[in-house]
Amino acid sequence: MTRFPTFRGRRLRGGEPLRSLVRETRLSPAQLILPLFAVPGTGVRTPVVSMPGVFRTSVDELIRDAREARELGLGGVLLFGLPRTKDAAGTEAWAKDGVVQNAVRAVKAEVPGLLVVTDVCLCGYTDHGHCGVLEGDRVLNDPTLESLARVAVSHAEAGVDAVAPSDMMDGRVAAIRGALSEGGFDETPILSYAVKYASAFYGPFRDAAGSAPSHGDRRAYQMDPANAEEAVREARADLEEGADVLMVKPALAYLDVIRRIKDELGAPVAAYHVSGEYSAIMAAIERGWLEAAAMREALTSIHRAGADIVISYWAREFARRP
Ligand code: PBG
Repeated sequence: MTRFPTFRGRRLRGGEPLRSLVRETRLSPAQLILPLFAVPGTGVRTPVVSMPGVFRTSVDELIRDAREARELGLGGVLLFGLPRTKDAAGTEAWAKDGVVQNAVRAVKAEVPGLLVVTDVCLCGYTDHGHCGVLEGDRVLNDPTLESLARVAVSHAEAGVDAVAPSDMMDGRVAAIRGALSEGGFDETPILSYAVKYASAFYGPFRDAAGSAPSHGDRRAYQMDPANAEEAVREARADLEEGADVLMVKPALAYLDVIRRIKDELGAPVAAYHVSGEYSAIMAAIERGWLEAAAMREALTSIHRAGADIVISYWAREFARRP
């Protein structure tokens, strides 16, 4: 055991360049993914009130954000769509000319080199706001798989680089992997929301995406925040079904889960610093109660916990202030 006065931790903390030399983790812009929200129309840029700095944009405006993401060296963008119309089945989610499909085609054409990932789910497209096909109050698992697979294939046909299913139905990674292969998209990676909790931190996102359930909640399919063993089972199942990257969501309240998934499964891990986690810190920064450095600290902690990829609404700001 090294003891004082031989051990003096402060020797390495005095200042640069020593601090940099002994820094254990570095989160770089290339490891960040920026979520973007696409709406129909042109010239649309509407602020999301509960998420300062986040906008709903039409595809032409979204291209500008995507270009900026590329210029800042971000790892990619994650696209969500708000459809023209909603119905019980969420059919707009797999429309060939749906808003996300159009956004993918446009970004791939106009911003070459930028990685484009799409969220694959139905909650933004169903008139009831649940993530699948309903029977009474219940989301039916197996009939939903077929719809999710159609959504993923429609995104692949539009040219997406990776799909990210976020619905938490059982067996959806296998269903999507199978459908992608059948469609000739063997090479399309699946970034699975493998471990997604029924969290109170998604509130602002549901404003942004217009995806709040009209009745009930998502506890019948999203995980209990008290469970970590279950997270390992979920992640293992997704890996076996053909997922390429395992996501944990939310991030800050689940750093232990991120670490466990990284250590026990040894696969690439992503973590989503979700809307509520972002907005809570942003609100405090806006009031002057926290310094902006708090956001950097939060994102760095997610990487230190074991996330190779961090999904963050603050990705551009992070890249601007190295
Ligand atoms: C869709 C989806 C949600 C988020 C990402 N994909 C919301 C939900 O499950 O209700 C949340 C993202 C965020 O809060 O930033 N299923």
